[in-house]
Amino acid sequence: MPNLTNKQILLGVTGSIASYKAADLASKLTQAGAKVDVILTSAAQKFITPLTFQSVTGCKAYTDKDLWGDEGHVLHVQLGKGADLIVIAPCTANTMAKLAHGFSDDLLTVTYLASTADVLIAPAMDGGMFDNPATQGNLSTLLSRGVMVAGPATGHLASGLSGKGRMLEPIEILGHIRIALGKHGKLKNKKVVVTAGGTQESIDPVRIITNHSSGKQGYALAQAAIDVGADVTLITTPTTLTPPVGAKVVNVKSVQDMLDALLNESADALIMTAAVADFRPKHVAKDKIKKRDGIPQIELEVAPDILKTVSSIKSEKKRYKVVVGFAAESQDLLENASDKLKSKGLDFIAANDISSKDAGFAVDTNRITLLFANGSKESLPLMSKTEAAEKIIEHVARLLE
Ligand code: CTP
Repeated sequence: MPNLTNKQILLGVTGSIASYKAADLASKLTQAGAKVDVILTSAAQKFITPLTFQSVTGCKAYTDKDLWGDEGHVLHVQLGKGADLIVIAPCTANTMAKLAHGFSDDLLTVTYLASTADVLIAPAMDGGMFDNPATQGNLSTLLSRGVMVAGPATGHLASGLSGKGRMLEPIEILGHIRIALGKHGKLKNKKVVVTAGGTQESIDPVRIITNHSSGKQGYALAQAAIDVGADVTLITTPTTLTPPVGAKVVNVKSVQDMLDALLNESADALIMTAAVADFRPKHVAKDKIKKRDGIPQIELEVAPDILKTVSSIKSEKKRYKVVVGFAAESQDLLENASDKLKSKGLDFIAANDISSKDAGFAVDTNRITLLFANGSKESLPLMSKTEAAEKIIEHVARLLE
């Protein structure tokens, strides 16, 4: 996760039963390459110990004792100053109130007050406490000052009741942290539309024509764009994947759905990763085709070419300033990709050899060659789809500069 590697995260943990999940968050951040300093409030220590955090982060976890210790007079400044992001998860109603009103009676709040770093909080409390006008007022104050807020979710609460107040799961908070860290990235204020997955064309109410696309490369591209600050719309066919936190998701099935969705959008860049049907049944049977009626003759027709449609309508080109395609080929990779680059009016195309076992559909790695409209070419070695996505996003950002 490049936008987390070597990043310094200051994780504040406050007194909520959800604090046990903060240990998982600290572990995930550390595994992603971040350096994680933890501050526990005294209430947090009733639920979880500093040792838990030290064990997962390999760094010291601080408590109020350190505020009054030898380096106490500078510690709060030093911890906040070095941080790329302050994350307070879980953040109780009490801590939210303190942050909103500038109270600074413990190491966490004094550090928050002294720091100019971006701040993300993940509230956790009982539903009644969250809904209380006092908490809602504090929330508005914090939002108006630029504090980012992740959650809370609605669901089962420690009180046994159900309502809005549950801390988001660590994996979702991680997604919000990626958005927060990407905020100042190369694609800030830029909108990127990514299509992903294989289209589905109905034969009858039960059967479809589809392909082996898993959507992995498209989802990785959506995440990579979010990591550098883009506002991302992910137009996706049904997949088993979880969309990146922060992506606006548009669910589609057929080529026509995808084309309609794209003609409804406009963006700085379109990355057309989806494996789109070239042919579709001319007529979709209203009822299930029965076996007893013999082998059906399914007449196909040519499906619209989405990229050609988008780039052939003159005014449509403006909808997407940079257009990127993918070419999935099993033979004559570069010749075919180069033809598609020209015929589809693309800025660049990622040519992808699907005959190799470690590249293309369903696997986690890809080996692609990028062909650009100006005739230049870049061959990328075998790499993860995540890394391939980052490379493609770098080129998109360069073209939009
Ligand atoms: N594409 C599209 N509309 C289609 C088919 C493909 O917009 N009906 C897009 C794909 O999303 C991809 C690029 O065109 O970005 C190339 O897709 P690919 O399947 O490799 O090429 P095709 O044009 O379909 O040609 P062929 O299947 O004959 O290789």
